[in-house]
Amino acid sequence: MSFNAFLHGLADRAKDALHEDSAVRELGHEIDRHAAGNAEGIAGFVGRLGTWAKEHPGAILNFLRHVRPVLRVKNVCIVTSHAGCAHVLSEHNDFAVIYADKMKMITEGDNFFLGMDDDEPAATTARSAMALVFRREDMRDVVAPGIEALCGRALADLKPRFDVVSEYLRLVPARFAIQYFGFSAAVDPVWLLEATQTLFEYLFIDVENDPVLAERAAAAAARMRSVLESEIASGGDPANADSVLARALRLSATGHAAFSPRAIRNNFIGLLIGFAPTTAKSAAMALDLLTRDAEQAAATVRAAQGPFMDFQALVREATRLNPINPGLFRKARRDAVIWSDGEATQVAKDTLVFVGTSAAMRDPRHVPDPLALQPHRPESAYLTYGLGLHACFGRYINDFHIAMLLRTLLAPGDVRRADGPEGDLAFEGPFPRRFILER
Ligand code: HEM
Repeated sequence: MSFNAFLHGLADRAKDALHEDSAVRELGHEIDRHAAGNAEGIAGFVGRLGTWAKEHPGAILNFLRHVRPVLRVKNVCIVTSHAGCAHVLSEHNDFAVIYADKMKMITEGDNFFLGMDDDEPAATTARSAMALVFRREDMRDVVAPGIEALCGRALADLKPRFDVVSEYLRLVPARFAIQYFGFSAAVDPVWLLEATQTLFEYLFIDVENDPVLAERAAAAAARMRSVLESEIASGGDPANADSVLARALRLSATGHAAFSPRAIRNNFIGLLIGFAPTTAKSAAMALDLLTRDAEQAAATVRAAQGPFMDFQALVREATRLNPINPGLFRKARRDAVIWSDGEATQVAKDTLVFVGTSAAMRDPRHVPDPLALQPHRPESAYLTYGLGLHACFGRYINDFHIAMLLRTLLAPGDVRRADGPEGDLAFEGPFPRRFILER
């Protein structure tokens, strides 16, 4: 029996017993016994968690958090408590990211700072270099008005019946990325979205290393490199003298190695992979949750018509309860300890750790009444953008971006889901494919 099937069976059996400490302890022992006899099965389970991003393994991960918040079996560890996840993500000297090899494929032998640890000086240099051109201070005067205008324009083009995924939620982030980076009209938003989606899947989801996906990713990476090389050579959009690219090229002219054309290319590829697919998917999943029934949909429209900061806080809650991935992966760089609510678990060097952020954000020990949409929770409730050294580079943009996409769509109050299955959010692989709305 697979570990997945075993856990489903156990969770079903345990439904009414989870409030009893002794029953929870016994369930934990049952998991340990099963794991001891099926260590390979646990490895397969963790391997498939990446692929599961599309299959909503939430129920199982939440069950696991209840009975075995840190489950270690041989060289695999599944962490589902909030404290345990926060510990692993914060201790980057003990737990490293695992993306380097694939980053190197994408950048022809180089790496990107998400694939490096802080004892690699190149990581700090590259991250700081990008912060000089992709600036937090742009938020008020460049980013926010830019996104708002693009949302309004895209909404005006929508027909009475439309696919909100392909015609709006994917389009605006890709268009905004092109505008903000300062690329020329030769860069097509649909192509950018699809190429970065393929690379995102290859880097972050495909823990099983599917050879077919690897081939698609190699083709997407080659095209991505060549498109960016020509943008860098030509200077991109001549009308945008203060774009991310224009700033990078000015620094490049000073001869600083962090802004060599190749470094700009590699860093832009990394930023673009983080940018478009994540925003589109987060917005689609938040919209799905916030319109799941008529009552919630009406409350969401009222919130969209109210103060923007309150609506943004509501949308953030939707992304907490419906995040784009079940978690992140790390690997122990040396023998280490994972602390979780006073319990220590030893893990050996090279242990693959699944950091179950989705279950952690529903951990009642750290997020009171976790299943309720409660806007304005403390910052610590959210692990949607990671934590620690590799916390999302775009995290000061994301909540605004998703909330603006949804407010523009919902505030007029005339949009509803289409009847039947077309009005449900459909996925293709790990990414949203279609969600038909009418107005
Ligand atoms: C809603 C949208 C987004 C979500 C859900 C998201 C999620 C995440 C998460 C969970 C991480 C941590 C990865 C890890 O620790 O293994 C991360 C890192 C990162 N994200 Fe985002 N992200 C989003 C948007 C963006 C945007 C707009 C950018 C563009 C700049 C971006 C660029 C990055 C980069 C460069 C990193 C690596 C940071 C580092 O290693 O220092 N992301 N993101």
